[in-house]
Amino acid sequence: MSATSSSASGAPRAAVTATGHFVPERRLTNADLEELVDTNDEWIRKRTGIVERRILDDDQATSDMATEAAEEVLDARGIGADEIDVIIVATVTPDMQFPATACLVQDRIGASNAWGFDLSAACSGFLYGLTTGAQFIESGRFDTVLVIGADTMSAITDFTDRTTCVLFGDAAGAVLLERDDEMGLVDAVHHTDGSGSRFLCMEGGGSRNPPTHRTVDEKMHYIHQEGRPVFKFAVTRMADACVEIMDRNDLEPDDVRYLVPHQANLRIIEAAANRMGLDAEKVMINIDRFGNTTAATIPLCLYEWENDLQRGDGIVLTAFGGGFTWGASYLTWAYDS
Ligand code: ACO
Repeated sequence: MSATSSSASGAPRAAVTATGHFVPERRLTNADLEELVDTNDEWIRKRTGIVERRILDDDQATSDMATEAAEEVLDARGIGADEIDVIIVATVTPDMQFPATACLVQDRIGASNAWGFDLSAACSGFLYGLTTGAQFIESGRFDTVLVIGADTMSAITDFTDRTTCVLFGDAAGAVLLERDDEMGLVDAVHHTDGSGSRFLCMEGGGSRNPPTHRTVDEKMHYIHQEGRPVFKFAVTRMADACVEIMDRNDLEPDDVRYLVPHQANLRIIEAAANRMGLDAEKVMINIDRFGNTTAATIPLCLYEWENDLQRGDGIVLTAFGGGFTWGASYLTWAYDS
């Protein structure tokens, strides 16, 4: 049910050396949602912390956002796409069931020497991707790994269901991982509990319920979430994971420059920060502007806060999502912007 990992002492670390992002232009505000469903701005702000979210144009898809984020990473680092070895795209909204969105990104950016794959872990996707990508660097087998979190949640959202449509938005974020002798991913704790799968899922479109008129009539191609049990589980488990990573690494609140939480609900974020003993100014929060963009929330935060980070800063990343999947990672930042 759970797994933990830590880099061997003395081994090179996988460090984040650049970030990138993409958010669509189009804003969907709480006021806009009041026109669509029986909801109101006060309820949404109070229960979730969300004020607006971004929605991708109908003729675009996840690979378009992921490509933009990847190109921004390459520009920021000043390297060519042909220098990328591996591309990991964390997403639950790939352009297609196959090929992987990573293949589409590889082609679009011209990463002629790269291989890659998609990783499905819902809101924990980027954290899982970071740990996975770090293994390739730590092993010494590969030098440059692009880890992208990208989701077009609007493509699987039922905009007549007020319990889910107020929560999600579209975005992409990306980081480059490279070797560093000191800084980088220090430790990660990851957990999975599949008994929670029924509370948060998309039932249609897979091999269990291939798309048919029936699956569409029954709206099985949309996000299904039972918010209350998911909230109860998330609010304790995410905080538990944060405490676990602090204990394992002997971290005091002063050792943590920033907490980078998955942005699903402000109340869940505050519970984690409180358990860690962190003041509000040490927590990256952009849920008010983007909502829950699933695999994109954490890299989008890293992109937005990059200028506040300096080499040596300790940061804790944490996520909770469909699966259930959850965890926390401890990273030391590798560069000054
Ligand atoms: N506007 C107004 N009222 C609403 C809305 C809405 N948009 N949605 C629900 N309500 C009503 C409900 O019908 C209910 O009414 P009732 O009391 O008459 O039955 C009432 O508000 C309270 O509903 P709850 O579901 O209990 O509200 P809650 O405080 O739990 O908030 C929420 C709902 C925001 C969804 C919360 O449960 C939550 O954040 N859950 C966790 C989400 C999460 O972390 N997901 C994991 C990541 S996502 C991923 O992996 C893809």
